[in-house]
Amino acid sequence: MAESAPTNSGLKLAGKVAIVTGGAGGIGETTARVFADHGARMVVLADIQDELGQQIATSIGADKCIYVHCDVADEDQVRNLVQSTVNVYGQIDIMFSNAGILSPSEPTILDLDMTKLGRLFAVNAYGMAVCVKHAARAMVEKKVRGSIVCTASVSASYGGTGDTDYIMSKHAVLGLMRAASIQLGGYGIRVNSVSPNGLATPMTCERLGSEEKVQEAYEKCAWLKGLVLTTKHVADAVLFLASNDSEFISGHDLLVDGSYIVT
Ligand SMILES: NC(=O)c1ccc[n+]([C@@H]2O[C@H](COP(=O)([O-])OP(=O)(O)OC[C@H]3O[C@@H](n4cnc5c(N)ncnc54)[C@H](O)[C@@H]3O)[C@@H](O)[C@H]2O)c1
Repeated sequence: MAESAPTNSGLKLAGKVAIVTGGAGGIGETTARVFADHGARMVVLADIQDELGQQIATSIGADKCIYVHCDVADEDQVRNLVQSTVNVYGQIDIMFSNAGILSPSEPTILDLDMTKLGRLFAVNAYGMAVCVKHAARAMVEKKVRGSIVCTASVSASYGGTGDTDYIMSKHAVLGLMRAASIQLGGYGIRVNSVSPNGLATPMTCERLGSEEKVQEAYEKCAWLKGLVLTTKHVADAVLFLASNDSEFISGHDLLVDGSYIVT
């Protein structure tokens, strides 16, 4: 059955200004669509895939969404992204810091390439911190009781047979989220993270070859049976954390894993 957009009375983000990093596909794209459907005044999509990002912003609607090129590994670009959003729309209410990458080589500790590790950290850890930092500064300056949501992963809560660099970087996201939630609480700013298990997005489809292969690989991981984890499930969790539905929740990592990591 096709999902319908929420009714006006059910809008959870009416009038809010949101930034979504990594918005040119996967979890970021779906979340941007959900934010717009829930009445966000403007969703600013930030990514490095300009053509895709522009297309997505246009399909959401020029009155609700714009695309801005921003490499989160470059602090100047993130500072400009935040500053230009504040200059044009007055403030930032929501930062969904979501951009992330995987290493194609899935390194173990024995074959960890430190240059590649640095490149992955530049996006997944440094880039995440820079987005939280500049969004928080803008919220503090404008006295906005904002919501910051970071994309971590189930990989932030356990080890693995490979992907050492990715697992390390996602543990760093939890540390960032927890520290920032304490430090920003006095300003009324909430900081949380969302931690999906594996799901089909361009990132995982590229690694495993197809959507079916991704679903096959991860469905056995969830104890919750009868459905497959989608970007909409993750986007709905982000919407909850971004909206006033989670008004007293801060410093929380919301797992979207069908009970996987409780095992
Ligand atoms: N897909 C999964 O199974 C899964 C599971 C848990 C967590 N995650 C996390 O979810 C987030 C989104 O990933 P996804 O699965 O939607 O993959 P995706 O590849 O579809 O989306 C990631 C987006 O980030 C963008 N990006 C990459 N480097 C960037 C940079 N330097 N600056 C700005 N944007 C950049 C990419 O262009 C892409 O549009 C990531 O943080 C990822 O680690 C994904």
